[in-house]
Order: sequence, then structure tokens, then C-alpha cells
Amino acid sequence: MSVKFRNGENIPLEMHKTRVIQRLNLLPIEERLKASQEAGNNTFLLRNRDVFLDMLTDSGTNAMSQAQYAAMLDADDAYAGSETFYRLEAALKDIFGTRFFLPAHQGRACENIICQTFVKPGQSVLMNYHFTTTKAHIMRNGGSVVEIIKKEGLEVTSDLPFKGNLDIDRLRQEIETNGAKNIAFLRIEAGTNLVGGQPVSMANMREAVKIAKEAGILTVFDASLLSDNLYFIKVREKEFANKSLHEITLELGSLFDLTYFSARKLGCARGGGMITNREDLYNKMIGLVPLYEGFLTYGGMSVREMEALAIGLRENLDIHVIEQTPVFVEALVKELVAAKIPVVTPAGGLGCHVNAMDFCDHLPLEQYRAGALAIATYIASGVRGMERGTLSEVRKEDGSEHFAEMELLRLAVPKRVFSLSQIKYVADRLTWLHENRHMIGGLRFTFEPAVLRFFFGRLEPVSDWPQKLAEKFRKDFGNSL
Ligand code: F0G
Repeated sequence: MSVKFRNGENIPLEMHKTRVIQRLNLLPIEERLKASQEAGNNTFLLRNRDVFLDMLTDSGTNAMSQAQYAAMLDADDAYAGSETFYRLEAALKDIFGTRFFLPAHQGRACENIICQTFVKPGQSVLMNYHFTTTKAHIMRNGGSVVEIIKKEGLEVTSDLPFKGNLDIDRLRQEIETNGAKNIAFLRIEAGTNLVGGQPVSMANMREAVKIAKEAGILTVFDASLLSDNLYFIKVREKEFANKSLHEITLELGSLFDLTYFSARKLGCARGGGMITNREDLYNKMIGLVPLYEGFLTYGGMSVREMEALAIGLRENLDIHVIEQTPVFVEALVKELVAAKIPVVTPAGGLGCHVNAMDFCDHLPLEQYRAGALAIATYIASGVRGMERGTLSEVRKEDGSEHFAEMELLRLAVPKRVFSLSQIKYVADRLTWLHENRHMIGGLRFTFEPAVLRFFFGRLEPVSDWPQKLAEKFRKDFGNSL
């Protein structure tokens, strides 16, 4: 909500109040150090009880509204034909204008079904940028990923309002050189997760989809991060200033052949789904839903979550709901920029992305700059972020590292969860860490899983730097937590 304060300052003002709370714990730094060791220096392996502010993700952690909780009590438990399913299906039809809905337990489950159905060995999937689970499913089906994001999308600082846009010339080139039949589909990801939560403009999506359709290529929309993207279309794309969020969503629903989403993000619940107007696509995928997910009227979701989702998706058409993440991300980015900390700009959705490439430029890339910054941040603050860099990549076939184009520490800002003072705390501790950044050392694997290694891989520091960092913190902060 944009309200001008007397001193001219722009402070995010919440259009809701908090009536259910969860107690938090801020451990002393010595205990945080111990917890980081027990977690193999991987923030995914920390126990949440040892975390002060959980900024790992917004996946399944957005605050729900009282209307969502109320709806959960009115769920219809049935293996087949549940009324809850029909309510959710009707909500999706109303919101996106799509006729067919297949439920799934979360976003990657949709990717499994879509990739098994549409990716043939040797085919490529064109996209603005990959997401970890998307790439894994494409590769598992013998396909490969070709990223055609605009070059500004991979630059840390830029003033381009839609850094998630596709490079249209490259799209044309790829189709021309590879041939449409070697392209499984074009995938556009709203809010480009791995490169800073940067949005895609409607104009760019229209153009890319038109080209793909003319070439006979299937178009797929990953709407997991649609909420933030919708906000940016509304506020940054002139044509939509006077359009309702519903009108924008309806256009997106009609633009793509197939849309899928993680409802752990979109709609503030826990689940997933695929929607389309094309009966042929629906019929191709339908058989895999009962095989992997559950019967067609629940698809692995709890009926209570489905009720919450139906309400959450409708609430997503309220600007005061969808602005919550972007305005808080902007507030954090502003504080960090003022403290000269390298971050991805312009502020996007999903979270604040600290540029570990620069923050830890004294570390060799083999020692995982973003991974080291993630664990150093936890030690210094109890704040849990997520590595989005080389650790999240897949090694090349010869076993060597595939260095990520960006080394980011993502500090996710789930909707309606954190207060402004907590955001200020994050900025304060990151500023201290930045002043002491040369104390941050590298990491190396002690256990490296072959698939999605960042989830449960274990690492060790290359020296006793975490210990020394904790001692410096004590010296500087006395007995403060
Ligand atoms: N697509 C995008 C753009 C995502 O951000 C995610 C999940 C998925 C697909 C997969 O959905 O988790 O429900 O299976 N992103 C989470 C995150 C995990 O933390 O950013 P899922």
C-alpha cells in the first residue's frame, strides 16, 4: 500500500493485521555455529527450531488469510468426485478462463507429468530461464534446456523493468536452426526464480507465444510465481495500469496452451495443478495423474488445502495481497543498496537476492561463494536463506563443475509473514557480515548426491573460518544475540 509519510519516506504499510502468531527463537551465535555444523553447512538441513527468520523460501510458508482457514473446515473428503474439487475447478475456470484442470501434489509433480508427456529424447525445451526441478525433469526424459533470456536478465544490476523477458531474436534463431520438431515446447517462467525473481512483461509473452504458435510449438507457462509477476505487469507495464488483475490473469490463461503452478507459492496453500483450454493436451496427460498423484479429483492434495487454494487464488486478484512480497523485497533491497551491499536490482519478486559473486569475490568459484555466504549469514544472524548458484547446478558429464551464471543468496520474503523491524534486522546483520566478508571462507562437499545435490548434500568449511567469524561477532556485539 502506497501511503506518503510526513517526512516523505515510503514505508510498506500492511493492509491486514496479524491475529495468529508463531513464537520465534534466536539462538546465541555459539549455538548457531553448532547447528550449522550439524546441518553439514547446508541451510536446507537446518532444523527450523534453530532458525530465527526462515527466508529459505516462500514455498508453503506464506501466511494464509482467515477466509482460507475458514474454507478448510468446509472441505468434502471423498476419494472420487469431491465437491471440493469442483469448487477449485470452478475457481480456476473463473480466474484463468481455462476449461480443464488436472490436480497434482506440487509444482514439480506437474513438471513430471508434462515432461513425461511432451519431452522426447533429443528434444530441447526453450525457456527464459530454468528452475532446478524443471531442468531435472526435462533431462530425466532425455531432453535438454535452452535458455533464451535477454542478456540483461543475467546482469546483476540493471534498470530494465522486465529482466525475465525472452530474447525474441534468439527464439527465432533457435527455431530456425533446430527445427520446430526438435523442440518439445516453449516454457515461460513468470518471475524467473533462479535469476532474482525478475518478471516477464505481457508484451514479451505475447510476442514469444505468437512466434512459437506460428512454428507449431507447444507453449507452456510456469505460473508458480505469477503473483509477483502480476503485480509488476500492473505497476510497470503502462498498458495495464487501468486493467484489473483479473483481466490480466484471463489474458494469460488464454495465451498459453498449458499453464501449471506450484500452489505452495501461487494461492498461499500447498498443492499444484495444470490448466488448459485444449482437450487434446488434457487427454494426453490425464492417465499420469492417478499413476503418480492420486485420483483425478484430488491429485495428491488434501481437500483442506484445496479449499484454501480456491480462496487463495481469488485473493490473488487483490492488489493488497499480491503487493506484500514485492514491497517488502523493495524495502530490504533499498536498505542493502544504501549499505553498499551487492544485490540484484531492480528489486524483483520472491525475495532479495544478494550477489555472492561480489560479496565473496575472494573465494574461488569451486568453493561455492553463494553456499558459503548462505551459511555465514545463518551463523551471523540466524536468518536462513537459500543458495542459488553453483551448488544448485548439475556437474558436467565429465564430472567438472558447471559454474552458475549468477552466485546468489536468496532471502525469500513470504507473504504477510515478516515485520519491518525483522527486515531491518536482516539488513543490519548483513551489513556487519559485509564489513567482515574477508573472514568468510569456502566450502567443500563431504557428501554429494548425484541428483539435486543442493537439497541434502553435506559440506565442510575449508578452514576454521566459521569459528573465527563467531568469535569476531562476540567481540563486536558483546553479549547481544
Ligand atoms: N517452478 C518454479 C518457478 C518454482 O519456483 C518452483 C518451486 C517449482 C516450479 C516447483 O514447485 O516446489 O511445488 O514442486 N520453487 C520453490 C522455491 C521450491 O523455493 O523457490 P514445487
